[in-house]
Amino acid sequence: MITPQQIKSMKSKQKIVMLTAYDYPTAKLMDNIVDIILVGDSLGMVVLGYKDTTKVTMQDMIRATEAVARGAINSLIVGDLPIGTYDEGKIALENANFLLKAGAHAVKIENRSEIAEFLTQNGIDVMGHIGLTPQTITNFKVQGKDEESAKKLFEEAKAMEEAGCFSLVLECIPLSLAKKITESISIPTIGIGAGIHCNGQVLVSHDILGLFDAFKPKFVKRYAEIGLNMREAFERYAKEVRGEKFPSDEFSFH
Ligand code: KIV
Repeated sequence: MITPQQIKSMKSKQKIVMLTAYDYPTAKLMDNIVDIILVGDSLGMVVLGYKDTTKVTMQDMIRATEAVARGAINSLIVGDLPIGTYDEGKIALENANFLLKAGAHAVKIENRSEIAEFLTQNGIDVMGHIGLTPQTITNFKVQGKDEESAKKLFEEAKAMEEAGCFSLVLECIPLSLAKKITESISIPTIGIGAGIHCNGQVLVSHDILGLFDAFKPKFVKRYAEIGLNMREAFERYAKEVRGEKFPSDEFSFH
């Protein structure tokens, strides 16, 4: 299994590849291909059909993490702590331990460097997440564009590093700011809409597979059109059942 320590040592040597997964078959397919599987709370939108991530519960995350852990043997599994589950240190620690028990090797939290510090001091490997953090910022806008907000993000990145995070997700910020942050901290940055200079990249797997089309951010590149393939298969099946073509003899018992 890839460890958080190994991810840390990949900085500037090798790009880190991360994708999301929320179920057993997807985790099994991406294990050995990606370095990190993120059981993201984006599950709320791309799997459960909510309009944002704010309704995701610990129960949702535990069930998904357990499924992913059954499918992935080699990749590092990071579980997202959903909104409201890390407001205070002791509660955060309890919930982080639930995710570890479910099979995650580390947890991710958005902002809150003081909570990150409490967790790392209690032996939890933490991935930080700053920039356009979907639990609290729901209007989709590039962050850190003006001098003041860029400075704030830079300071947050430093605080996450000092809190002992082993890596840091930078979401939806200008690539020049991502470069500056990447060059100024010792832990790897993993970008989503943060440009080429980050030490690694992450995308939501449903986005790159064409399985989620409620909206498509500029930073998403489609690598497949699985959604179209699925629709076509459903249509062919429905047509054959209605036309009494399925099940043919080949699929029947005598
Ligand atoms: O929940 C998620 O999938 C995430 C990624 C977009 C980084 O936090």
